[in-house]
Order: sequence, then structure tokens, then C-alpha cells
Amino acid sequence: MNCFTLPTAARITGIETDNYRTKTFVLDAQLEAAPGQFIMAWLPRFDEKPFSLVSADPVTLMITAVGPFTRLVHELQVGDRLWLRGPFGRGFDAPATSRRVALVGGGYGVAPLLWLARRQLAQGAHVTAIIGARTEADLLYGPRFAALADANGAGALSLRLTTEDGSAGAHGRVTDVLAPLLDAGQIDAIYACGPHGMLHALAQFARRTSTPCQASWEAYMRCAIGICGACEHDGKVLCMDGPVLAL
Ligand SMILES: Cc1cc2nc3c(=O)[nH]c(=O)nc-3n(C[C@H](O)[C@H](O)[C@H](O)COP(=O)(O)OP(=O)(O)OC[C@H]3O[C@@H](n4cnc5c(N)ncnc54)[C@H](O)[C@@H]3O)c2cc1C
Ligand code: FES
Repeated sequence: MNCFTLPTAARITGIETDNYRTKTFVLDAQLEAAPGQFIMAWLPRFDEKPFSLVSADPVTLMITAVGPFTRLVHELQVGDRLWLRGPFGRGFDAPATSRRVALVGGGYGVAPLLWLARRQLAQGAHVTAIIGARTEADLLYGPRFAALADANGAGALSLRLTTEDGSAGAHGRVTDVLAPLLDAGQIDAIYACGPHGMLHALAQFARRTSTPCQASWEAYMRCAIGICGACEHDGKVLCMDGPVLAL
């Protein structure tokens, strides 16, 4: 197992298309890491950007094409190389004492949650995975969570999908599904990753019901080692103190 302190070339061994702007890349590299940690992916003479680890062995990344770097990564083929640094940051702290957990993902925030779900299931937790997006076309990893639910037998993992336009799953936001579960005392801990608006809303629900909540915060990252200050958020340096923070 490894940690890459300098950009290290890894070859792409598999690419899967997840939706109209998202692909999952499997690389011939292994890292010692935990769910919620991230790597910096570099294309020489172009740019370097942070991505959550979908898995560390083999390194797997879910990349949504939103700008120049991610669009260029989407042009890569099996056999091409991507350079990696990491892993970085603090991941999710998932104590075995949490028996009924909610994993809440919005947009490409779903990326680290599949691995976390596997860990939680292995610890005997009951997992409610709530995945939200604007539309059905934007939903990510529904089939992967469904396969994990099937593999773990009846009732270990409940999958709930939400879309803001009602085109798939429940009509509304992830908080619309989570709130009644919290109010009914059916959730012991929340783990979340997604847009800041979603995380602020979750934090309010968590505080109101005194439910422990950890969330992965996005920030612009450059150095990823606590030097440049690009990722400062509320007095914290998210590449080192985060990206996962207790809310
Ligand atoms: C810890 C961490 C984990 C991440 N994991 C993933 C992942 O698993 N999959 C994935 O697809 N992306 C992930 N991202 C986001 C990804 O790094 C950015 O989308 C990246 O900037 C894309 O680069 P680009 O050159 O393609 O687009 P850019 O030109 O950098 O960005 C495109 C658009 O997105 C906006 N944007 C970019 N980054 C941020 C940000 N941090 N906060 C708010 N707005 C932003 C920009 O303003 C711009 O409008 C993660 C980011 C962090 C910090
Ligand atoms: S990215 Fe440079 S301090 Fe965090």
C-alpha cells in the first residue's frame, strides 16, 4: 500500500460512463486511505485538481466534467496516464457504535459514500443511503448502491433517491427524506457530501435533533498540504483539517 508524496503516474484500466457528464475511472494504483480522503490528479503542463476516492484499491475516481480539467480527463482512454498525489485530508470517522446511519449525497458528492457504505455494512450498521440530484439524468451511483443493497441481503441498506423535478425517486430534496427519519428517531448518525447549501440545511436538521453529523466540504485546493491557504473555510484549512468536518 502506498502514499504518493509527488505526482505519480497511474494508468487507466477501466472507464465507465455514469451519466451524461460523469465517468468513473479505475487506475492501476493502490493507496492506503479512508473513505472521505481525496487525491490531487495532475495532467502535466495543464492543471491539478482534487477528487474524492471512490475506492483506494484500486484507486477509483468519479469525475464530472464541469470545466477545462475535467473535460480533458474525460478525453482520456484506457491505457492513458493520470498523475496522482495523496491521499490527503481527514476522511469520515465511522465508529462501530453508530447502528443506524444515513449517508446523504448530492450531485457528485456521492463519490466517497459508496466506499463508506461498504465499511458501515461490514461493521453491522443499517445504512440508509439518500442520493439527490436536480433531475433523473443528474443522479449518480443509484445502480451501484442498488447492487450493494442486493449483495447485503434484505434490509441492511435502504436506498432512497430524490430529484428536484420529481423525474425519479421522491420529488424534492434529500432533506425532505431525511427529516422524517430524524424526527422519528430512526437515525443515529449522518454522513454527507454535496453542495454547501445542502450541507448547511443538513447541519440545521442535525442540530435540531442532536444527531451527530459529519460532512465533506468542497473548497478550491492548490497545494493540498496546508501551505497556500486556498482552501480556508471558517478558520480551517480544509485540505488538512477536512475535507470532512463534524458539524
Ligand atoms: C475534496 C474535494 C473532493 C472532490 N471530489 C470530486 C469528485 O469526486 N468528483 C468530481 O467530479 N469533482 C470533485 N471535486 C471538485 C473538482 O475538484 C472541481 O470540480 C474541479 O475544480 C474541476 O476542475 P475543472 O478545471 O474541470 O473546472 P473548474 O474551471 O475548476 O470549475 C468549473 C466550475 O465549477 C466551479 N467550482 C470548481 N470547484 C469548485 C469548488 N471547490 N467549490 C465551488 N465551486 C467550484 C467553478 O467556479 C466553475 O464554475 C472535489 C473537490 C474537492 C475540494
Ligand atoms: S490547498 Fe493549499 S492550504 Fe489547502
